Amino acid sequence: MAKDFRFDAAEVRKQFPALKLEVEGAPIAYLDGPGGTQIPQRVLDAVLQYMVERNANEGGNFKASAFCDIVEDGAREAAADLLGCSPEEIGFNCSSTQNNTNFAHALARQLEPGDEILSNELEHRANIAPWMQLAKDGYTLKVARLDTETQQLDLEDFKAKLSPKTKLVSLNWASNGLGTVTDVKELIRMAHEVGAITVVDAVHYAAHFPIDVKDIDTDVLICSAYKWFGPHVGVIYMKKELIQKLDFYNVMCEDIAEGPRRFHMGTPQYELLSGVTEAVNFIAGVGEEYADCFEEELEGLSGRRRNVVAGMTAFDRYESELARQLRFGLRDIPGVRVYGPAEGQPRTPTVVFRVDGFSTEEVTKVLGDRGINSWHGDYYAVEIMDAMGFLNDGGMVRLGLAPYCTQSDIDRALSAVRSMVAGR
Ligand SMILES: Cc1ncc(COP(=O)(O)O)c(C=O)c1O
Repeated sequence: MAKDFRFDAAEVRKQFPALKLEVEGAPIAYLDGPGGTQIPQRVLDAVLQYMVERNANEGGNFKASAFCDIVEDGAREAAADLLGCSPEEIGFNCSSTQNNTNFAHALARQLEPGDEILSNELEHRANIAPWMQLAKDGYTLKVARLDTETQQLDLEDFKAKLSPKTKLVSLNWASNGLGTVTDVKELIRMAHEVGAITVVDAVHYAAHFPIDVKDIDTDVLICSAYKWFGPHVGVIYMKKELIQKLDFYNVMCEDIAEGPRRFHMGTPQYELLSGVTEAVNFIAGVGEEYADCFEEELEGLSGRRRNVVAGMTAFDRYESELARQLRFGLRDIPGVRVYGPAEGQPRTPTVVFRVDGFSTEEVTKVLGDRGINSWHGDYYAVEIMDAMGFLNDGGMVRLGLAPYCTQSDIDRALSAVRSMVAGR
């Protein structure tokens, strides 16, 4: 029988040096996770160790240089364990925006006049701007609507805009602007039925849930290590056959006949790739502690992949309960309007809201003065803010949870908003 689940946030917190920092004598409440998480010591150590002891470029006949290949292969294996694929299907660049833009340029070389791309209003600009660029180049871009009532994708509109002319469907697995989680597996199935390629933006999703790219069957998926305890590195998964089919812009591309190096631009960021591996190892390390609680979820899995899935499952269980308390607490404060999908609908532990009579900037300022990190604005979820009518009105305030966040962080945030509304 599976063991009862009780998450030990205090134990996790010990691994993050930034959590010792204080503002005005109080520890910082890092509720800014959707913008990027804090970094555990083991990631910092790995980056520093590379830079001090192993700093070199690849291809030399000396030890440090040979180590570059080990670092790169190691990061590929780690990312593959995170996403559930083969290391040969993983590539890196500086960001997800960069990865997707490179992908878009490569795909454009294969498009023909009349071909269509289908995106949607839940996207971060990273998964719509590259497609807008192609629209400027003459291809048709259709954008499925956000249903502003349910704050989910308008499925009927999506279906109506999908056609045999659609060559690429861009999908957002979890919205960094609303917290909405979309059933991408079903949409990918529909896209494949009309012969389209799919790209899933999992940048926000990957911070909170286990991912199995083979299960959802997407052709491409992007995520960023700095959202899951790593450094600023963009990770791209691409099915092997697609890597081979695309002609990437890369000064070396003619020489690189096969494999994921086809979509690298120049020298990889070895020091940061060392950190990517350790970020995955951090998740797996936590997962190992909780694997006995999730026998059903882990069936058939082994090794680091099993522990990664256990770790992400533990984070999800812990964060979603805290987020629920945050949403209900905020709703109890007069004049606070909480957005995002209805209770019971799939969502991330990211909570967005506005406060009557205060600008979103005023709210984050009050929080910031009390050592509570939060965000306001559109966070590049421009189409969402436009559809909701907030684009030119400060967007929304965003509080997001990570496994190192605590009940005390939630209480402090609620107390700060309560005092602000009460004029104290
Ligand atoms: C949902 C989502 N997609 C894409 C991005 C862009 O990722 P990157 O900064 O790695 O380009 C972000 C960044 O916040 C995001 O939240």
